[in-house]
Amino acid sequence: MIEVKSVSKSFNGQVVLDNVSFNIKDGEIFIILGESGAGKSVLLKHLVGLIAPDKGKLFINGIDVGSLSERKLLDLRKTIGYLFQEAALYDFMNVYENLAFPLKEHTRLSKKQISEKIKSILQLVDLEGVENKFPSELSGGMKKRVGLARAIILDSRVLFCDEPTSGLDPIRSRDISDLIRDISRKLNCTTVITSHDIENSMRIADRVMIIKDGKIIALGKPKELEASTNSFVKEFVL
Ligand SMILES: Nc1ncnc2c1ncn2[C@@H]1O[C@H](COP(=O)(O)OP(=O)(O)O)[C@@H](O)[C@H]1O
Ligand SMILES: [Mg+2]
Repeated sequence: MIEVKSVSKSFNGQVVLDNVSFNIKDGEIFIILGESGAGKSVLLKHLVGLIAPDKGKLFINGIDVGSLSERKLLDLRKTIGYLFQEAALYDFMNVYENLAFPLKEHTRLSKKQISEKIKSILQLVDLEGVENKFPSELSGGMKKRVGLARAIILDSRVLFCDEPTSGLDPIRSRDISDLIRDISRKLNCTTVITSHDIENSMRIADRVMIIKDGKIIALGKPKELEASTNSFVKEFVL
């Protein structure tokens, strides 16, 4: 379970998160929706300890993220898959090397085991025969898939995806959203996604949270949000 308790954060006097509290259940697909600049990425970064709150606490499976030493924080991050907005692949490594990198760093797998793992993870994200390609040779959608493969390659049970559909056309956006949902279900991951893509979010989420001006303005199942009478929520989801 992920718990966010009374978290506030300002940058240079600008309030980005204003006393935000919510919980994410094990195995659920939880989508944080909000306009650009609403604080979605800031919230995800708090959860992995890349940003510290001014006030409040965050817990991942009972662990107080703010209480961890740098070393313990690195251990925690190893258990969390993170798909960054720009996929954040190493440009100077091909796909195979990008995927092998975390395995070489953090596991004792043999060369053969690494090769098998990469083969199966590429199958899982529906990409085959791209091992020797460099990121610059991949389309936006393919980069996201490789980023997703790398995020789950250490068998994380917690997966964070920051704007997985940004920069993609509607068809690719739908495909990557469905893929994240299918993988999340298959691996039984607790999955937190930030997005401003309302249609795909409402389709794949177990629960959606909408943030605006640093506050939670709605939180519930897609059906519940669709039935909301709040004018901003209506404007947002309909
Ligand atoms: N490290 C930082 N220093 C100063 N301001 C920041 C920093 N990170 C984010 N912000 C500001 O916080 C606000 C929310 O940013 P962000 O979470 O990236 O928005 P989004 O919802 O689009 O992901 C923005 O106004 C951004 O400029
Ligand atoms: Mg963002």
